[in-house]
Amino acid sequence: MKYEGIIQANKQWIDTTWEKLDEKLSRTAVKSRYKIPYTTINGEHDDRSKGEDILWWTNGFWGGLMWQMYVGTGKECYKVTAEESENLLAGAFNYVDNLYHDVGFMWHITSGVNYRLTGNISSKNCNLITAMSLMSRYNVDGNYIRAWNGSETDGWTIIDCMMNINQLYWASEEIGDSRFTKIAMRHADMSIRDHVREDGSVNHIVVHDTEKADTVLEVKAGQGYSETSCWSRGAAWALYGFILSYIHTKAERYLETAKKVADYFIKETEKTAWLPRLDFCQPETPLYYDSTAGAIASCGLIELAKNIDNEVKKEKYLSAAINILKAMEKNWCDWTETEDSILQMGSERYTDGIHMPIIYGDYFFTEAILKLKGTDFLAW
Ligand code: GLY
Repeated sequence: MKYEGIIQANKQWIDTTWEKLDEKLSRTAVKSRYKIPYTTINGEHDDRSKGEDILWWTNGFWGGLMWQMYVGTGKECYKVTAEESENLLAGAFNYVDNLYHDVGFMWHITSGVNYRLTGNISSKNCNLITAMSLMSRYNVDGNYIRAWNGSETDGWTIIDCMMNINQLYWASEEIGDSRFTKIAMRHADMSIRDHVREDGSVNHIVVHDTEKADTVLEVKAGQGYSETSCWSRGAAWALYGFILSYIHTKAERYLETAKKVADYFIKETEKTAWLPRLDFCQPETPLYYDSTAGAIASCGLIELAKNIDNEVKKEKYLSAAINILKAMEKNWCDWTETEDSILQMGSERYTDGIHMPIIYGDYFFTEAILKLKGTDFLAW
């Protein structure tokens, strides 16, 4: 079946799910307007906007989610909450020396989207200044963007950063300076070489020499089960990150890498009825899942399906995304009024924070459904 045929066959589910998202989020948009939530406590959104909590890496997802809903509905309640969230996020500029690689997650889907939708100049400035701070993390000897701050993590790279570099592609285009894109591509090329394995599985953390190019000193388990296993959210960051790098640069190697990771992700997720495990190589028990990996990967799979010509592969990737989203909607979505979050069963890491709602689960689930509705808006 062709792309449009698959969408049509699932149209009723897509439309109903979108309506449920709008019903629930139009309520929480008002209820949690002056917070930046990460998870829920006894059904209520928590708040990461106070003091140094404002530096928490997920603090762009609530505002980003509100912009996704605004794009999909045009409702003012979403725009107002997105703008409030961006105002709160500005508190992070009180701690400039503690900003780190996740500025893309924080500002590109909040200020970056605000600027693109409304032309707001102070939003443009926030996204540009933080893009400059991301670029300044480039290790000129090693050809990579370092993760975190301080001497202990000097030389560390993480697969997650494939999502942050989208902010650099935007900055290049916005101010007509190719250096941002060149640095993003060098980081992506390092990630192909050092993070993506031959079978399409992924290393989370790689430790490099800080003085020499193209060196790997050590691989770390990071948030996955072990240094040789595959943390599913890491694979999802790679899948979505590489197809986005392809969209921004048209370099075929990024498309090929996205396909390789997608094939691995699909093969592993099929084994558990389309509900992604936390780590694809974890022991059989305890059976830990991670809904956020499924939501992120679904976004990547849909973009992959849209950006390839081969009809068989198009069908494979789009169908896999829909299978994952449907399985998660049936088993893990909470549509009640007594719980502020929607997607349950997110997991922070193999050692901690198992099976909980996490804000970027709701963000990427919503982004995926908006893509399936045919809305032509790419936040990244
Ligand atoms: N970027 C950190 C995580 O995915 O948990």
